[in-house]
Amino acid sequence: MTGIRPLVAGNWKMNGLGSSLAELASLRNRLEAAPVPETDIMVCPPATLLSRAREIVDGSSIMIGAQDCHPLPSGAHTGDISAEMLADAGATAVIVGHSERRTDHGESDTLVQAKALAAYRAGLMAIVCIGETEAHYRDGKTLDILRTQLEGSVPEGARATNTVIAYEPVWAIGSGLTPTPQEVAQVHGLIRTVLGQMLGDAEAGGTRILYGGSVKPSNAAELLFVPEVNGALVGGASLKAVDFYEILSVYAGTRS
Ligand code: PGA
Repeated sequence: MTGIRPLVAGNWKMNGLGSSLAELASLRNRLEAAPVPETDIMVCPPATLLSRAREIVDGSSIMIGAQDCHPLPSGAHTGDISAEMLADAGATAVIVGHSERRTDHGESDTLVQAKALAAYRAGLMAIVCIGETEAHYRDGKTLDILRTQLEGSVPEGARATNTVIAYEPVWAIGSGLTPTPQEVAQVHGLIRTVLGQMLGDAEAGGTRILYGGSVKPSNAAELLFVPEVNGALVGGASLKAVDFYEILSVYAGTRS
């Protein structure tokens, strides 16, 4: 362990109706029965469920995050949601630059950086996602791509307390495929080095770097105990409390 408090965040994506909040209540119950100490736990439901989700977790250790925000605080942007609105609904963090946003909505590094700044403005933690495509991976371009994404997406004023990096290889998301632990260690080491050049070693040394992409109960221990991995961003396996709890409970009993 590096001494950094890990974060395990569940990204529900465009999944979840009111009835799905029973899973969140179930997660809360599991954590109350068998807590996982010294680990930050977050669930990022769709925006429609944020305030109800917040009520369910109130008084528990579970934090609520959102999945995207608009860079501006308010205005004529039909259908968009500002970081301030997310905070008002009970979120304490927001994912920005997820590869599905970058692909589905053509989000650039510049826009992702503006969204991260919006998160800070609203007092939210920004979970900034980066990751290479399958073609980049095959061509050996992973490290170059990640450096470009980090330099373009992470704001200059980023700090360990307001920013989390999520490394999510695009080809690993929802595919059941994962990089080897050696590959993850190499990439996370590079990310920390680049962050050090951008933010200084003190901030970089305390910044959480999550792994994401096909994390499930069967591979969680193998991926989460890789050096320089400080937690996970979990998609599909976060929808069921039983699976999500099993993933985050790899941290149970690892520290005194
Ligand atoms: P997955 O998604 O766990 O379903 O692969 C991860 C993510 O996109 O955050």
